[in-house]
Amino acid sequence: MKIPVIIDTDPGVDDAIALFLAFSSDKLDIRAVTTVGGNIPLEKTTKNSIDLVSYFGKSAKISKGASGPLLRELETAEWVHGASGIASVKLPKGNIELYEKNAWDTIYEEAIKFEGKLNIITLGPLTNIAIALMKYPDLKDKIERITLMGGACYIGNTTPAAEFNIYVDAEAADIVFKSGIPLTMVGLDATHKAVVLEEEINEITSSGNRVSSVVKELFQSCLSVCKLYGAEGAIVHDALAVAAVIDPSIISKKEYYVSIETKGELTYGKTVVDIYDVTKNKPNVEVALGVDRERFVQMFKGMMREYA
Ligand code: RIB
Ligand code: CA
Repeated sequence: MKIPVIIDTDPGVDDAIALFLAFSSDKLDIRAVTTVGGNIPLEKTTKNSIDLVSYFGKSAKISKGASGPLLRELETAEWVHGASGIASVKLPKGNIELYEKNAWDTIYEEAIKFEGKLNIITLGPLTNIAIALMKYPDLKDKIERITLMGGACYIGNTTPAAEFNIYVDAEAADIVFKSGIPLTMVGLDATHKAVVLEEEINEITSSGNRVSSVVKELFQSCLSVCKLYGAEGAIVHDALAVAAVIDPSIISKKEYYVSIETKGELTYGKTVVDIYDVTKNKPNVEVALGVDRERFVQMFKGMMREYA
């Protein structure tokens, strides 16, 4: 039985690789791709989503979501992803028409259809999910699990305290983390252990099939930015969140109580992980701490065979 999923995304170089992986999997029934302003503005994340899914030769509802956070101004990351959001990659103009419903109405529509079995994979700020939860109070009982790329126990990549997806809209994250929906947080603690080495990138993209050069450009762009931070390989954050839904055993995780800082001057957007259970609050999140890196790399090799 395929897992019905909605992928909420802000493509984004690593989002693009994550979408390649998701659409190559026979385990996922991708009901919709919902777009959000994040790495780059909404118009471009939506265009990239349409162009990518069309390029895959696949189909899915593509629904436009929030242009920015609930309260704050959108802070983008073109310096990481390029002005287009997908580095130097040039894709043919996509042929998928935008779905008539927006992101939050699409999420609810699919949640009703799958009666509690719908999974959501979020690869960007959590704005769309928060809006859906506010507009449809019963939605929280109709989502099986949200697997989100975001947060971290110990580090930040946007401020010293906060990871980008949470930092961009901490108020939205606060709503999601308090929703009671089962959550798996694939944060920097795990993604930073999932580096894909340059020689592995070459192996993954050596097949010379119709998508090899695009996938290689995306990986190389990711690698060059990650090396600036001293990483020994490409850290494809969003792809690990997708991989964790395709094969949950690829990550090791522990349940913690996690809350979101929305007031701190220096700590806004921090996922505050109660490692030592000092609050005695019931854990609300499965936090990814480790990864089977070799299996993650193998997944990408399998992915390429699906686009032959
Ligand atoms: O911190 C990494 C996350 O922020 C990824 O989702 C990346 O695409 C950016 O959105
Ligand atoms: Ca992203």
